[in-house]
Amino acid sequence: MALLEVEDVVAGYGAGPDILTGLSVTIEEGTSYCIVGPNGAGKSTLLRAIAGFLKPRAGEVRLDGVLMNGSRPDQMLAAGICFVPQDASLFPMMTVRENLAMGGYLVNDRALLRQRMDMVYETFPILAERRGQNAGTLSGGEQQMVTLGRALMIEPRVVMIDEPSLGLAPMIADQIFEKIRGFGALGITVVLVEQNAVKGLENVDWGIVLDLGSKDFEGPADGILADPRIRELYLGKTMSKGMT
Ligand SMILES: Nc1ncnc2c1ncn2[C@@H]1O[C@H](COP(=O)(O)OP(=O)(O)O)[C@@H](O)[C@H]1O
Ligand SMILES: [Mg+2]
Repeated sequence: MALLEVEDVVAGYGAGPDILTGLSVTIEEGTSYCIVGPNGAGKSTLLRAIAGFLKPRAGEVRLDGVLMNGSRPDQMLAAGICFVPQDASLFPMMTVRENLAMGGYLVNDRALLRQRMDMVYETFPILAERRGQNAGTLSGGEQQMVTLGRALMIEPRVVMIDEPSLGLAPMIADQIFEKIRGFGALGITVVLVEQNAVKGLENVDWGIVLDLGSKDFEGPADGILADPRIRELYLGKTMSKGMT
């Protein structure tokens, strides 16, 4: 059974039009995914619908085969579905350690909290060095690492990350992607959304192309990257925006 199943989901905002127009996506445990597609395709909306921030108007979101429609974000989080939104903000006047502790607010056991924090510091050694520093004083890349570290604090089954490379210099973005690739070894299933389609696909197993709120195409990421025709057809729109 798939870990997460999104089936024929229709979703939109308030009284507005349908943004997701009958979208189906399957997320298998241990496979990493990148969702790509032009601006406004509904990529962020899909993550919000899965994470419980947006209730589907129709269709189903299932976790381990269990219907989750209508679950609140905190319930999805407790079920191991962690969403790192594009504008995930830190508490700038709080230390790195305190920001990470916020991610572990569901953990009541102090020893376990300590253990998870050590695991985050092992994954992001720079954060161990900066643990006593206010998050607001960190570089953009380091702040993104705190955001990801905070997600790891709940030991999620799935982490969905919206535009992890946004606003970062290419070299820093590469470091972030390298860290995200390592999440698989921690038993975490990764779902990325990336405006930089090629970079995103280079760092995952499977690519899903969205357009106009539904799925255009999906397949092995290396296959998509290697096929010039598919690249032209499905990545052209995103690549023409100055992406490489
Ligand atoms: N909070 C919102 N309220 C109303 N419309 C929204 C909201 N967020 C996104 N939209 C609309 O939904 C569509 C898809 O947006 P989004 O999911 O953010 O696309 P993507 O992440 O693929 O760029 C866009 O037309 C956008 O204007
Ligand atoms: Mg988006």
